[in-house]
Amino acid sequence: VNPVESKLIDMHEQTAELYNHFLMNTDYGQHALDYLHKRGLTDDTIKFYKLGFAPSNRILSTFLKNKGFDYQSMRKSGLFLESDDGELRDRFFNRIMYPIKNEVGSIVGFSGRVLDKSESQAKYLNSPETEIFNKRKILFNFSDAKNAIRKEKTVILFEGFMDVISAYQSGVENGIASMGTSLTREQVHTINRITKKLYVCYDGDAPGQNAINRALSLLGNTKLELGVIQMPKGVDPDEYRKQNGEEKFAEYMKSALESPLSFKMRYLKLNRNLDNENDQLTYINDVLKEIAKLPQPLERDIYVNQLAEQFNVSKLDLTNQMNKFIQRDD
Ligand code: GTP
Ligand code: MN
Ligand code: MN
Ligand code: MN
Ligand code: MN
Repeated sequence: VNPVESKLIDMHEQTAELYNHFLMNTDYGQHALDYLHKRGLTDDTIKFYKLGFAPSNRILSTFLKNKGFDYQSMRKSGLFLESDDGELRDRFFNRIMYPIKNEVGSIVGFSGRVLDKSESQAKYLNSPETEIFNKRKILFNFSDAKNAIRKEKTVILFEGFMDVISAYQSGVENGIASMGTSLTREQVHTINRITKKLYVCYDGDAPGQNAINRALSLLGNTKLELGVIQMPKGVDPDEYRKQNGEEKFAEYMKSALESPLSFKMRYLKLNRNLDNENDQLTYINDVLKEIAKLPQPLERDIYVNQLAEQFNVSKLDLTNQMNKFIQRDD
């Protein structure tokens, strides 16, 4: 870490303290604190993640100037928007602030959430790319989850920050999330260094299901052993915790685990009517293509069997068809 970077980090650490102070101890933050309480977060959780509130009156530039930070560093921090005459104005205001840490636990960026749904504003606003904040590399909660990931020998990949935080509050501490995008090669590399097993636990809505499918094809090219924790229809992990409590949440994470192929079989059924013969045929073919990708003959055999029973068709025909789809490397 060079001096420029450490100054930017220092600025972020102090900013997080300020936002956290506004949330926990001032009238400005009361509305936001009530909101987080209403979502079922405890003060311990709020403190652990050092959540904060950026008030509407823009206070950050004065605060940081008084702390002795120079104009150029503040400009480069990503915490401000610059007007034509070079004036710096707080990028984040009237938002709940989620500090984002790098791999070693230093705060390098923020994501800010609006309190109320509004059409005019994005729900989440992230820090821009800076010298210390690179979205392709950052994994939310990774530095705090490391020990639990090693202990569980598994990492759980969630869609959103609130899902990771919900999991933590439920005692499931090996959760991480990307910055609202699909995983990059750099992120996979980071994960690979401490575990070989990754479970994807995305939202139970249609975008979430599509995102699981994309994630599985992307991660299929890596050495990671994969699983899917399937949420109930329409529900995201944070909503599940809110509705059912922490204990049920932790149990659910264990019980809802399925193989990538099971996910895929369910996914391929969406938007298809399997009573229709054409749909049935394309479905069976699509599943056979997936089965053909499995490395072990025994595994393939088991799933072909299941398919044969499910549709009451000849196992031999299915096996022959599946064999056509097997890609030979040699
Ligand atoms: P809550 O509504 O607070 O529970 O958030 P969520 O995590 O359930 O949000 P959602 O499922 O809609 O989106 C998942 C993730 O995508 C979020 O955690 C963000 O990282 C990202 N995301 C969602 N909306 C936006 C947006 O408007 N802008 C950006 N940059 N990212 C977003
Ligand atoms: Mn309250
Ligand atoms: Mn979602
Ligand atoms: Mn969600
Ligand atoms: Mn949510």
